[in-house]
Amino acid sequence: MSNSSKSSAGMWAEYAKKIKKVSTLNDLEDIEQELFGRKQGVMTLAMKKLKDLSPDEKKVQAKELNEQKQILVEELEKLQNDLETPTGDVLAKSDSIDVTLDLPEKERGHLHLIPEFIRQAEEVFGRMGFDVFRGPEIEPEEYNFDLLNFPKDHAARDWADVFYMKKQTAPDNRLTLRAHTSPCQVRYMQKNKPPLKAIFPGKTYRKDDDATHSPMFHQLEGLMVGKDITLANMKAVMIKCVQELITQDAEFRFRTGYFPFVEPGLEMDMKWTGEDKTKEGDWLEIVGCGMVHPNVLKNCDIDPDKWQGFAFGFGVDRMVMIKHRIKSIRELFPGDVRFLRQF
Ligand code: DAH
Repeated sequence: MSNSSKSSAGMWAEYAKKIKKVSTLNDLEDIEQELFGRKQGVMTLAMKKLKDLSPDEKKVQAKELNEQKQILVEELEKLQNDLETPTGDVLAKSDSIDVTLDLPEKERGHLHLIPEFIRQAEEVFGRMGFDVFRGPEIEPEEYNFDLLNFPKDHAARDWADVFYMKKQTAPDNRLTLRAHTSPCQVRYMQKNKPPLKAIFPGKTYRKDDDATHSPMFHQLEGLMVGKDITLANMKAVMIKCVQELITQDAEFRFRTGYFPFVEPGLEMDMKWTGEDKTKEGDWLEIVGCGMVHPNVLKNCDIDPDKWQGFAFGFGVDRMVMIKHRIKSIRELFPGDVRFLRQF
């Protein structure tokens, strides 16, 4: 073997070593170019040079060169294979991602139960053609009470232990944190001409605090005003709502109830069996409702001789508690993910 072929054999061996160290497909491509590039590849040029040799010399060198080429090509192919489907060594060598590693599962959030329920309600009522409107949470007494036919100084005003704002504008029309969503009915009727169909979801405030009451809670008010609206329409809408939002086999009953802004007024209870389905369940009040009082229509410039309708106010938190079998309303508000994760 001539000197030059010895040193070139050494050079090919160097390349073989270099290939073994490669750990990325990019580097592999570089080395492939360096060796076999069409114009400048080291191996390509060596092959080209063979034609300058004497026939005997050419025979020897061509054989040797082809052997080296074969070795390098095999190394490159093997490496490419390994890099494309990495295992053991190659993985350790490279910093590619091991998709088989047991990583902690990424947590995905979901809507809190209350806004989730409200969205579902908006969808159910939306399908029945109801609009969605949101009123202010700070209301003067005029909207919280007067326009809703609560007589001044009437005991009914105490029914909702109202929060009054510290900063007051008028002594005879104090600002309150609204005690119910019913003022939204008035605001909506003042702005829109009948026939009307709308729901008003939102937060409400009262000085109450126990397992089934919270100083801040949610209501879903609704209103439908038209030409021939009757209690039968109201019942149909209430029942549909409870069945779609809580459960298809909901058991319910209607009782008479008093609210100054409706006549007649009703309350709807739902049978709640709790965890133990074998027990006779309790009746829980979930909604107040009735036919809109003529005085309320008049207060909103709607002629009660031409128009009539019904209104209702669901207790959203109650419904969510029944739906998800939650024992205390207080669990709904701290935002504890250990609690929320269960749903
Ligand atoms: N606003 C009442 C409450 O907070 C609930 C209610 C009763 C709303 C009857 C209504 C209704 O729209 O017609 O207790």
